[in-house]
Amino acid sequence: MNKVLSEKIVKLKKERNVLILAHNYQAVEIQRLADFCGDSLQLSIQASSSGADIILFCGVRFMAETAAILNPEARVLLPVWDAGCPMADMVTAEQLRELKKLHPGAVVVCYVNSSVEVKAESDICCTSSNAVKIVSSLPADQKIIFVPDQNLGSWVGKQTGREVILYNGYCPVHHFGFTAGQLEDLRKSHPGYTLLAHPECQGEIVDVADKVMSTSGMLKYAEDHDELIIATEEGLVQFLNYLYPEKKILALNSRAICQNMKKTHLSDLYDALIEDKYHIQVEPVIAERAVKCLKRMLELS
Ligand code: 13P
Ligand code: SF4
Repeated sequence: MNKVLSEKIVKLKKERNVLILAHNYQAVEIQRLADFCGDSLQLSIQASSSGADIILFCGVRFMAETAAILNPEARVLLPVWDAGCPMADMVTAEQLRELKKLHPGAVVVCYVNSSVEVKAESDICCTSSNAVKIVSSLPADQKIIFVPDQNLGSWVGKQTGREVILYNGYCPVHHFGFTAGQLEDLRKSHPGYTLLAHPECQGEIVDVADKVMSTSGMLKYAEDHDELIIATEEGLVQFLNYLYPEKKILALNSRAICQNMKKTHLSDLYDALIEDKYHIQVEPVIAERAVKCLKRMLELS
């Protein structure tokens, strides 16, 4: 069944000049069909430089919105209408405007996991893989507001030695998914394993992690390391085990699942291409402002 469906998708893809992009948390069956899998930064770069007529984005809404504003020539389709990101929904443009009023003169760095309206209110964007670089690029005496992820913002503050005004957003999967207690148990049963943590995890995890990195950072690190404990969404751990079945790669919590990332199935890709849905469109005035914040990030990346 999956084989037949995959073949149909590949045929439609060729006929319609489609680029399939998939985030590293997507199910393996989707990743196998994608032209490119990656973290948020890599996907933004791929989307902006693609000559495809259609970009079929297997991920969540803010990623498809980012692709749509970085590549206005392409028609960007999100296969599942309500595949969203709870963290991105935690801050609205109005809330950010209020925060800016409290800190006049502050530069706003927004995590890419945010709505296009929030990006339009921000000065520069960042992803988990370049947040330290982006914040370090700002003048030393510059006040910085970081939205919406308190955990990434706080980790970046520590890494750069900069004072960062935080917002109280978080990723429910990373914020609640991993605890120091789970880590202690796994470290006891698997001594010598290296802990790779995503910076969306709380301080009790990132402060003791051997490495803190984006999902693609983890994929790269695993190329030449064999015994790993991974603190991020389980889709990445499944993908790592698919790539390296001979290695010992453990999830810190295999129940840390992003339900939104798991909404996309092969049948949704097929339906999206047949029915030309769901077309992600951004109001031109908002897109014009949001693209500046994304392009500033890409210039520095
Ligand atoms: P990266 O893949 O950019 O590390 O981001 C993780 C994430 O939570 C995306 O929603
Ligand atoms: Fe959003 Fe967290 Fe899911 Fe990433 S893992 S899409 S940050 S809810």
